[in-house]
Amino acid sequence: MPRRVLVTGSSGLIGSEAVAFFDARGWEVLGVDNNMRRVFFGADGDTTWNLERLRRMTKRFTHHDLDIRQREAMLGLFAAARPGLIVHCAAQPSHDLARERPFDDFEVNALGTLNLLEATRQHCPESPFVFMSSNKVYGDAPNEKPMRELATRFDYADPADADGIAEGCRVDAALHSLLGASKLAADVLVQEYGRYFGIPTVCYRGGCLTGPNHSGAELHGFLAYLARAVREGRTYRIFGYGGKQVRDNIHAHDVCAAMLAFYESPRVAAVYNLGGGRANSISVIEAIARLEELAGRRLHTEYVDDARIGDHICYISDLRRLRADYPGWSITRSLDDILRELITRPPTPPA
Ligand SMILES: NC(=O)c1ccc[n+]([C@@H]2O[C@H](COP(=O)([O-])OP(=O)(O)OC[C@H]3O[C@@H](n4cnc5c(N)ncnc54)[C@H](O)[C@@H]3O)[C@@H](O)[C@H]2O)c1
Repeated sequence: MPRRVLVTGSSGLIGSEAVAFFDARGWEVLGVDNNMRRVFFGADGDTTWNLERLRRMTKRFTHHDLDIRQREAMLGLFAAARPGLIVHCAAQPSHDLARERPFDDFEVNALGTLNLLEATRQHCPESPFVFMSSNKVYGDAPNEKPMRELATRFDYADPADADGIAEGCRVDAALHSLLGASKLAADVLVQEYGRYFGIPTVCYRGGCLTGPNHSGAELHGFLAYLARAVREGRTYRIFGYGGKQVRDNIHAHDVCAAMLAFYESPRVAAVYNLGGGRANSISVIEAIARLEELAGRRLHTEYVDDARIGDHICYISDLRRLRADYPGWSITRSLDDILRELITRPPTPPA
């Protein structure tokens, strides 16, 4: 019997990578996605092309066009499938968009997660539950670290902070954006279903997750959208901080490897930061320069002297806890691998 994984958000960046990753390893994969990314981000966010790609390339993948907000539908699906692993990636992922759609944001991110947790508790409580959480749960608290401004980026001023933000960073008394608040609600629920009910749950608090199968939109998908702007000759808007704000970037493949590591050696109520770490960190203007170099063309940019509310000035995920608990896991795709892949990937086909 093949092992069975249920992936929510299966047509999105991380979900689709998880579908392909587990399918390639002989798993049976059930995907749940209602293409709500198109509703959130318009045509740029449409994931139909990605679903079609998965259908072509996989062996044991079935797609379920369901909404995770539909409690009965989720309970029914879990009762029938009893997956051995749950990978929860469905989300409203943009903090700028959340304020325009506060109910959609909360209902997808928080309520949807509760529906899945309860379905797991009722039908497969032994199965590891992997939740893609976010570094937005820390709100803007990481900005309190002393910073120094270098020629092309901000960095932490104190050498003791060189490894970046650890899981002990406080999650309250900070400005989160509504997205950060809804993701934090979900993150705490996932931990609680672990601690209270003994379910093996993990929150992976993502830095910048990226890869070629992102339907990059201006409001979400930093490197994917930037590469798209370079490829397609779009104007790219830089929001505040002189473009020196720093992100750490992790390839979707390495995210999936962390999911598998957790499945193979699960814990209860685990929490890890998951990003590219210092080696895969880059500022907006550094990323533009490197992508221009790789593409051999200039990007037209526009500077908006107004930072995104709650934007991190320098965010590097401290990966030491994850590396200590899962020594077999590592970053396998360097930042330059990621940038090269993004810039050479053909433009997203129209939906
Ligand atoms: N991409 C990043 O940089 C990043 C960073 C930190 C955390 N995360 C988290 O990782 C997870 C995956 O992110 P992603 O970049 O793959 O996002 P994505 O938008 O590419 O994928 C999410 C998918 O969920 C689907 N979806 C949305 N609402 C749904 C609903 N109600 N029912 C069913 N499907 C629904 C969308 O159609 C989309 O295909 C999210 O939880 C996100 O918050 C992402």
